[in-house]
Amino acid sequence: MQREFSMTQTNAQAQIELHKTLAPRYALRYSYPFSRLFQEDWHAEMISHVPEGTRHILDLGCGTGFFLAELEARHPGSVGLDISHEMLKVSDQYVPGVRLVTGDAEKLPFLPGAFDVVFCKGSLHHTRDHVGFLTHCKKALGSNGCLIMSEPCNDNPLISLARKILYNKSPHFDIGDQGFTKRGIIELTERAGFEVTLARRYGVFAYVFAGFPDHVGILRHIPGNAALTRLFIGLDRLICKIPGLSLMGFHIVIVARPR
Ligand SMILES: C[S@@+](CC[C@H](N)C(=O)[O-])C[C@H]1O[C@@H](n2cnc3c(N)ncnc32)[C@H](O)[C@@H]1O
Repeated sequence: MQREFSMTQTNAQAQIELHKTLAPRYALRYSYPFSRLFQEDWHAEMISHVPEGTRHILDLGCGTGFFLAELEARHPGSVGLDISHEMLKVSDQYVPGVRLVTGDAEKLPFLPGAFDVVFCKGSLHHTRDHVGFLTHCKKALGSNGCLIMSEPCNDNPLISLARKILYNKSPHFDIGDQGFTKRGIIELTERAGFEVTLARRYGVFAYVFAGFPDHVGILRHIPGNAALTRLFIGLDRLICKIPGLSLMGFHIVIVARPR
């Protein structure tokens, strides 16, 4: 249904429709202990870049709130924003009392400089005006602020092809969503007025086998899947450190400071 509408709807409407159906899938995705292990490692990778003294945090495209819960535990008063009210309903149950805002990341409703850190885990690629999105992030950050993102990386032609097929064929993606090359996402971030201080690929085997048990369910049936996930996480970290091999990374973590 999403695919029929996407030619006539705005992207914002299409994303709202799409994520209505995805909210229960996300809850399932994060419910397996082995998949939580992987997600927690991913979150730890992103959180490791939070500067000392950070107080005010925004999770842009917070979805069902599993990352937000970790941010709120470390930095009480964190804010989650998402375009999908259905996703936020899960967040509300999962992180009771956390500050949630239904809104469009391309039109952020916050005062300039309201946040020290803006996180964006997998939401930029759902938008169409990437520079606009990032410019809003910059406005929401103080001059000493920090943007920490993780987005799908398409530097590897095989990954790029697989993603293209998935985004075109699967009802769980929007046809206009797209991954980024490392160079491409750095350029977009710089065009929005940031200086990129880190761009590091993340996630290979653990990403594929533990990250999305709602799509790739094989680990669900394998005894010792938590140990296997830990092994994959370690292997992925090694792979992503080795030039050339790091092209196997499915995501790219970006850290950027307003110029
Ligand atoms: C891939 S999900 C990631 C959710 C969450 N960050 C996580 O890691 O589980 C992308 C999220 O971005 C949200 N999103 C898409 N377009 C958006 C927009 N323009 N403004 C705010 N949120 C948006 C979707 O509703 C969805 O919850």
